[in-house]
Amino acid sequence: MCGIFAYLNYLTAVDRQSIADILTNGLKRLEYRGYDSAGLAIDGDNENDVLIYKEVGKVAALQKLIQEQNTIDWQKTFTSHCGMAHTRWATHGQPSPINSHPHRSDPKNEFTVVHNGIITNYRELKLVLEKKGYTFESETDTEAIAKLAKYIWDSQKGNKQLTFTDLVKGVVKELEGAFAMIFKSVHFPNEIVATRRGSPLLIGVKTPKKLKVDFVDVEFGGIAEEIPAEVEGAPAALSALEEIYEQPESVVNTMRGRVNFDTHKVTLGGLKTYLPTIRRCRRIVFIACGTSYHSALATRAIFEELTEIPVSTELASDFLDRKTPIFRDDVCVFISQSGETADTILAMRYCIERGALCVGVTNTVGSSISRESHCGVHINAGPEIGVASTKAYTSQYIALVMIAIQLSEDRTSMTARRNEIIDGLHALPAHIKEVLAIDQELQRLARDVLHKEKSLLIMGRGFQNATCLEGALKIKEVSYMHSEGILAGELKHGPLALVDENMPVILIMTRDSLYPKVRSALEQVTARKGQPIIICNKGDDAINAESKTIRVPQTVDCLQGLLTIIPLQLLSYHLACLAGVDVDFPRNLAKSVTVE
Ligand code: F6R
Repeated sequence: MCGIFAYLNYLTAVDRQSIADILTNGLKRLEYRGYDSAGLAIDGDNENDVLIYKEVGKVAALQKLIQEQNTIDWQKTFTSHCGMAHTRWATHGQPSPINSHPHRSDPKNEFTVVHNGIITNYRELKLVLEKKGYTFESETDTEAIAKLAKYIWDSQKGNKQLTFTDLVKGVVKELEGAFAMIFKSVHFPNEIVATRRGSPLLIGVKTPKKLKVDFVDVEFGGIAEEIPAEVEGAPAALSALEEIYEQPESVVNTMRGRVNFDTHKVTLGGLKTYLPTIRRCRRIVFIACGTSYHSALATRAIFEELTEIPVSTELASDFLDRKTPIFRDDVCVFISQSGETADTILAMRYCIERGALCVGVTNTVGSSISRESHCGVHINAGPEIGVASTKAYTSQYIALVMIAIQLSEDRTSMTARRNEIIDGLHALPAHIKEVLAIDQELQRLARDVLHKEKSLLIMGRGFQNATCLEGALKIKEVSYMHSEGILAGELKHGPLALVDENMPVILIMTRDSLYPKVRSALEQVTARKGQPIIICNKGDDAINAESKTIRVPQTVDCLQGLLTIIPLQLLSYHLACLAGVDVDFPRNLAKSVTVE
């Protein structure tokens, strides 16, 4: 789940400082993939001299370290040059300079490697290499790759035909696991070799004739060599708060050109030819992780109601652990913001092998899930950089509702329901703006009521169950406060024991068919002296005037979760700020989870 970035230029002269800047700026765009440490390798003053700099923490710390290297001539110009860089999400070995990438084959840096992924047989490789006299300096799996490269080089000494690509092919043959890697070597100056298996890797190509950068996807299992590239064009980073605030626009982008609010029709080009197959299927299985899984939970009921097809929801990792039976007449829907989550990709490949129709719902055009699925829908939320997913959740939710509407278009009995939902979607951007307008209230609630608490329970049922789970996930991941989403119907089966006058509770009690049942949960909580903060609809006078409330506009029941999640996203943001957490980079996490 790390980010790797390399730069190769043999067309224009560039000074060393600019090379370091290109590498660190490129790395910054990838920081969402992990930010435990960062490092880079660039050429030294002689052809067979590679300099490595590594620092714990974010790319800014690496930049500072580089600035402090005043014995290096940063103005030295190179007519051709290659360098590579890495931002790490620690899997093997704690964040420390020695465990940071690039990893090297030996103290002379003969072979250096940056790697994203996990090498599952690294222990065996390490044992073999140690027996051959190689000394390891880090606890990582990656170091074995660099040492293996040197071993192959040393054992083929004198073989003038050996190219850098051949050598890397030899390394890759020995590796098990998933990886995207870049190699640099003093023996092959001005060359870089990139390879991937299971992890994503793109190459940007820019030539003097063609100033625009073209992106080339390195083939699965493929090797790319000597590509003059200057990668740019990755999205500029928005902060988590900006992404929450962007939702009135991002939801419009998800619906743009797909929902006709006059004719009440939904048209999803990516599913067109597959609709009859999906309508005939035996069952639909939603498969995803984390927030994306919650979007599946949020829409399952309306999917079943509109399509009358049984829908099950699966966490990708558990789905694979159980080796769930999947058949040719199943339709499996893979929901993933990044389209690169390893568990979800592996689950998809498993379903493809078993002959199921696989539908991808992703935010990333060209991602593994969008490429490998049979058909799908892009949610078009725009790049999501914040580690905590916010706008992607609301857009995934809408995308799934749109799929359900389109699948049910041949059911006249559902026309009124479909029209009501489409009208609700039409009003959604304005409704989201209304919720965002209560942000100051939420900030006060975070500061005056919740900030010092150790734990927070969020309860609701029906369409709001997913909001409870997603809200609790947001709060714990960015503010580090323990939070638990509880299905209100389960309250009496255990969680009620946690409730007393000291336990903070948020109860979601919006006006839908389950309102009376949620009211009884409210009574169970207040009977134990709990004083819940109630997320309810504006104008709901039945709620005791003394209760603390967060009021959101009322919309169609199945869309209400798009509005109730927003106060929880904002609360998590304010709780994080009050706790002094860098909300864009919560500890131990990464945006794209590309390891199992
Ligand atoms: C939480 C969050 C994660 C992701 C999960 C799946 O805020 O972002 O739980 O939702 O890692 O990621 P994608 O959607 O990229 O497959």
